[in-house]
Amino acid sequence: MNIPTKNKTVRQSRAERSAGNGNAVCRRRKEEKMIKIAVLGYGTVGSGVVEVIEKNKELVNKKAGEELEVTYILDLLDFPDDPYGDRVVHDFDRILADDQVKIICETMGGVGKAYEFTAKALEAGKSVCTSNKELVAAHGPELIRLAHTHNCNYLFEASVGGGIPIIRPLNYSLTAERIQAITGILNGTTNYILSKMEYEGADYDTVLKEAQEKGYAERNPEADVEGYDACRKIAILSSLMTGKNVDYRKIYTEGITGVGPRDFEYAKKLDMSIKLLAVSKEAGEKTLAMVSPFLIDSAHPLHMVNGVFNAVFVRGNMLGDSMYYGRGAGKLPTASAVVSDVIDCARHIGKVIMCFWDQEEAELLDIDSVRRRFFFRVKSQALDTVREVFGNDILEVQLDGVPEECGIVTSVMSEADFAECHKKISDAAIGRRLRMEAVE
Ligand code: NDP
Ligand code: HSE
Repeated sequence: MNIPTKNKTVRQSRAERSAGNGNAVCRRRKEEKMIKIAVLGYGTVGSGVVEVIEKNKELVNKKAGEELEVTYILDLLDFPDDPYGDRVVHDFDRILADDQVKIICETMGGVGKAYEFTAKALEAGKSVCTSNKELVAAHGPELIRLAHTHNCNYLFEASVGGGIPIIRPLNYSLTAERIQAITGILNGTTNYILSKMEYEGADYDTVLKEAQEKGYAERNPEADVEGYDACRKIAILSSLMTGKNVDYRKIYTEGITGVGPRDFEYAKKLDMSIKLLAVSKEAGEKTLAMVSPFLIDSAHPLHMVNGVFNAVFVRGNMLGDSMYYGRGAGKLPTASAVVSDVIDCARHIGKVIMCFWDQEEAELLDIDSVRRRFFFRVKSQALDTVREVFGNDILEVQLDGVPEECGIVTSVMSEADFAECHKKISDAAIGRRLRMEAVE
């Protein structure tokens, strides 16, 4: 065989030819065996997924039982200086048309194109692993069912708690349990902000900017600070807890805006901390699900969860309490969770991984009847009225050098009763009221 080179034609020996053919055959066989992967969205998490697969290649392949290769990266932009820039494509149909692509990582976010691409991938029998909690909360049971109909999987370990394993424990490890309650710090951005405010007296806007720079915050950080992100995550966990679909739009949700330095001074005096908690509890036939900032005392297992760390406290009827802790946001921790799903999918090509999340809607408890203590601040001159309205069974907390106001801890009362009483003293109230959570 004559092989044209730039300057001359050389004759290839039979041995070289057969070696060449052998290499080509080997390459083809290897490619046929290899599982191709596509990553949709080359941002914080997507670039992390590629990095985890490449950096931990040997052990990822070993654990997957097959060689995995990120063949395509779909993004709106090109990345000419990136080591994986040559894998970037802009047309999803190219990925869809490649039969060797068996697993897709959806790390784009949103519910528009992400939904369309996920559905098309699953219909084509390609498993999808996602960090997109917005999509999972909105279309989880539908996409799981679609996947199973096409003998593939829709996995979402990274959608709750960043790098913390919590979906898999609920799906696999705690299957013998009736889960009675889940209480979590489920948003890294807000926990980072609250911790910086508590321990460093940091300013809210400055720390929010820091969280954005570190890649923790959502594209629109309102989703973090107003509690919407934690709401979607507790909807996902509540759905796995009940086996039914918990509609995130029906979950009572408050964020952290309005929590200020003075609140932390009172918290310290009470030996407490302020955390944005996402709560889901059995309430007879119904489920209580809510997101709100809570004062929690120092004995609470979530008290020392600080910074970008998240934790999920699960109560089962046999096991009792167990807790899952780790980095709740950020590139590599989240990517690690996505890749753990990729490995699971690789081990189950053509097989369905069970997930008990029906489309039937779970009934949520109206929070009005829920009983707890509350904390609020009032002008000192209104204390007599406060005692009249809330009774004498309140705790008054006075900060040193701040005589003009007082903190009040109420007795245990229902949300509805508190709201009614608080309305009566609203003219004297300062700042926002906080709920109090204790370990039962
Ligand atoms: P980024 O904004 O950093 O990345 C998203 C990437 O997807 C961007 O590069 C974006 O391009 C690209 N993209 C958006 N739409 C399209 C499209 N139609 N076609 C191709 N590419 C597209 O977000 P993150 O990586 O932070 O988050 C991704 C998902 O993971 C979100 O759902 C988020 O909620 C979730 N998540 C994030 C965590 C984190 O710590 N950051 C942790 C856990 C979950 P462009 O920038 O040009 O728009
Ligand atoms: N914005 C989210 C957070 C990312 O801060 O927790 C992880 O889901």
